[in-house]
Amino acid sequence: MADPLTIRRLYGRSKGHKLRAGQEALVEDLLPALSVPDQGAIDSWTLFGDDRPLHFEIGFGAGEHLAYRADLLPDHGFIGAEPFLNGVVGALGHIRDRHLANVRLHMGDALDVLERVPDGALRFVYLLHPDPWPKARHAKRRMINPGPLDLIAAKLAPGGEFRLGTDDPVYCRWAMMIMGARRDFEWLAESAIDFLTRPGGWPETRYEAKARRQGREVWYFRYRRV
Ligand SMILES: C[S@@+](CC[C@H](N)C(=O)[O-])C[C@H]1O[C@@H](n2cnc3c(N)ncnc32)[C@H](O)[C@@H]1O
Repeated sequence: MADPLTIRRLYGRSKGHKLRAGQEALVEDLLPALSVPDQGAIDSWTLFGDDRPLHFEIGFGAGEHLAYRADLLPDHGFIGAEPFLNGVVGALGHIRDRHLANVRLHMGDALDVLERVPDGALRFVYLLHPDPWPKARHAKRRMINPGPLDLIAAKLAPGGEFRLGTDDPVYCRWAMMIMGARRDFEWLAESAIDFLTRPGGWPETRYEAKARRQGREVWYFRYRRV
């Protein structure tokens, strides 16, 4: 994707604390079995051998939301992308513990995989607490920008849903401004309560709980692909 507005840079680290032996085994044994193929189109047929509804989570962190949704909807397929190794290990642990057979992972940039999904193939896209890039001169690195949003819009089926959560007031305002200017997404909020309270089927991640403990507000946005 040639997108002059978005520079693909990671905010923060891609590696954290050293893995324990059990975690290393997950990375060596389970991750290759669940990773999306390196090449070619990525859809329900290639991943699951049928035409089940497909969900995509960008930057799943420790995988709590991804695993919760996959457990809730066992007949749907889930793709999660996350470059942070310790996060991927967290997701692998949830997948193993919950015996989830409907999740595929990509350790790396979500946009690289999203580009390979056929247009209109996704039912849901999730972007929860995207990296804030708080400085104005770094705003072009935010996921909520025309380049990534055009891609998300293309990959969602009409009527599909894009969910965005943030605890960052600057990002919240930025997202409302950018999303509000788009004609291809309809904001599903009818009143303030809809974006101030967590919608059903949207679990709290540890990241979100920490934000609330530290006194930060959390905003929840649901958009329908028109
Ligand atoms: C603030 S954390 C939120 C994690 C998780 N979504 C949650 O709510 O608990 C942002 C995450 O986005 C990931 N991330 C950043 N850029 C990404 C990209 N291009 N593709 C996929 N994940 C990305 C980071 O590694 C990080 O784990």
